[in-house]
Amino acid sequence: MPAISASAPGKVILFGEHAVVYGFPAIAVPVTQVQAKAVVVPNPVGASGEINITAPAINVNGMLESLPVDHPIAKAIHLTLKKVGISRPPAFNLKVSSTIPIAAGMGSGAAITVVLIRAVSAFCGRPLSDEVVSELTFEVEKIYHGTPSGIDNTVVTYGTPVYFVKGKPIKAFAVKKPFSIVIGDTGISSPTAVAVGNVRKAWEAQPETFNRIFKSCGEIAMQARRLIETGKVTELGPLMDENQVLLMEMGVSSPELETLIAVAKDAGALGAKLSGAGGGGNMIALVAPEEADRIAGALERVGASRTIITQVGES
Ligand code: PMV
Repeated sequence: MPAISASAPGKVILFGEHAVVYGFPAIAVPVTQVQAKAVVVPNPVGASGEINITAPAINVNGMLESLPVDHPIAKAIHLTLKKVGISRPPAFNLKVSSTIPIAAGMGSGAAITVVLIRAVSAFCGRPLSDEVVSELTFEVEKIYHGTPSGIDNTVVTYGTPVYFVKGKPIKAFAVKKPFSIVIGDTGISSPTAVAVGNVRKAWEAQPETFNRIFKSCGEIAMQARRLIETGKVTELGPLMDENQVLLMEMGVSSPELETLIAVAKDAGALGAKLSGAGGGGNMIALVAPEEADRIAGALERVGASRTIITQVGES
């Protein structure tokens, strides 16, 4: 059996985070500059069913049995083996690596799960379809997120921009004219489950206010989709600013995010907002392509721990 490898990109949410958990549309895009990768190498001297895992990015090094059954890696492997109908595959070593920042709203958990499922199912001779990979990843995401919307597993599995509505099939979504985004990392890790839990509590305390906020986020995502499909990409900037105001009202922004957003705007970004769960993690700014390096530099000078420039709709 040959070695098998699989990779998957990171992602950012352009519009509609949090509201998407409550059934409103959101838009997410892959970020190919960062990747998760899994390599499965057969171990000809091991007994069948023996699986050795090395995943330094998430501090895992040892046999599958040594992980708790609800560990995301263990869960991903068990779900995959069940799906392909093989309980004791030939022994193998699994190496997982990732350049996607962890707990920063860039889909690192989903991407690691996707590559694991793809590599292990292919090694078993039964590669799973994108639809099934995304479904199984969603199951594993519940460990990280509690009540995930499903947007992360979808965008990372398909590796294409998605207009996502919870529980609905993935919508084909054309990017008429590519546009540039600068991603700035606050360097502050922010577990998604905590932010999602806080928003839920606030929604329960003030349902009317939060329903109005979520609805407005959904309308912004709908408008953004039309602008992207018709190539009116500079008009996305003001929509990002509006979405950020709503995210601030939800209580998921932070002083560090707001500093990066303000600096990006001062440096000439067309619009900017936090991306993902908030509290820390990343912000994104819409920029003219020729301004991207300069704006990324401005973010780094005020403390962004990392910046990434990506083009949405790049073929
Ligand atoms: O993984 P993150 O940090 O990008 O957050 C996901 C986006 C949320 O809307 C906050 C949660 C979800 O499941 O959609």
